[in-house]
Amino acid sequence: LALTVTLSNGARLPRLGLGTSPMNDDEVERAVVQALEVGYRLVDTAEAYRNEVGVGRGLKASGVPRDEVFVTSKFNKHRHSVEGARAAFEVSAEKLGVEYLDLLLIHWPNPEHGQYVEAWRGLIELREAGLVRAIGTSNFKPSHLQRLIDETGVAPEVSQIQLSPIWTKQAERDFHAAHGIVTESWSPLGKGSDLLDHPTVTAAAKAHDKTPGQVVLRWHVQQDLVPIPKSSNRERLEQNLAVFDFELTAEELAALSALDGTGRAPADSDKTGH
Ligand code: A2P
Repeated sequence: LALTVTLSNGARLPRLGLGTSPMNDDEVERAVVQALEVGYRLVDTAEAYRNEVGVGRGLKASGVPRDEVFVTSKFNKHRHSVEGARAAFEVSAEKLGVEYLDLLLIHWPNPEHGQYVEAWRGLIELREAGLVRAIGTSNFKPSHLQRLIDETGVAPEVSQIQLSPIWTKQAERDFHAAHGIVTESWSPLGKGSDLLDHPTVTAAAKAHDKTPGQVVLRWHVQQDLVPIPKSSNRERLEQNLAVFDFELTAEELAALSALDGTGRAPADSDKTGH
């Protein structure tokens, strides 16, 4: 398995990254430094997480060159316009202390607000200006993505959704694949559920001498999904990245996918902050 997936614009996205919600500035600064030390090269933040300053401090303190880290942010509903997207970029870049972003996402479609296509036009302009390398969406359904494509002719490079073995989103993944969109998984470990204690997960962990978290993250990467687990704990940060030295069998992958729908209904991302 290569360590990156190639986006439709040719850029390379690391196969696994650091999620940063919820973490405050101080906590995230430490986590980013530790994550980059142990080998992470993808960091995911958002205006809504209120921790971009801490992420920026961590990036700088790590000493890792800017062009070796893939930095993602997202922006909120009040910026759903061409000028708003531009302002979102400027504010995030300033807080993060970077000249460009590798990926900028519309955080939620907010269909009731009805302006996400305008936000998308803004992102297309930012990409043309070279200020963001890749553009995408978060928490969009296929119907929202279809509207972007119909009205602008431009599909996202990345679509980030809540996804794990208990919530496999196969129809959404099929839509992404049909349009060359890479799927990122937020809350990839099924936070809030008992996924990591499920016998299917613990049995596979035992069989491979891995932890339940590693089995679940391997389930993502082996299917070309890009998970962004959050951890503020050095040991778990390391553990979560160590999923490239074993392989789940087809039966194990299928058994994990069969957990679809067995968890609690997923939390509304607007309420959890993701
Ligand atoms: P911690 O930061 O203490 O490691 P999300 O699913 O939203 O990305 O959140 C992940 C949650 O699961 C966090 O609360 C994190 O806590 C915890 N976590 C991260 N990695 C692991 C792991 N390998 N095993 C168990 N829990 C984990």
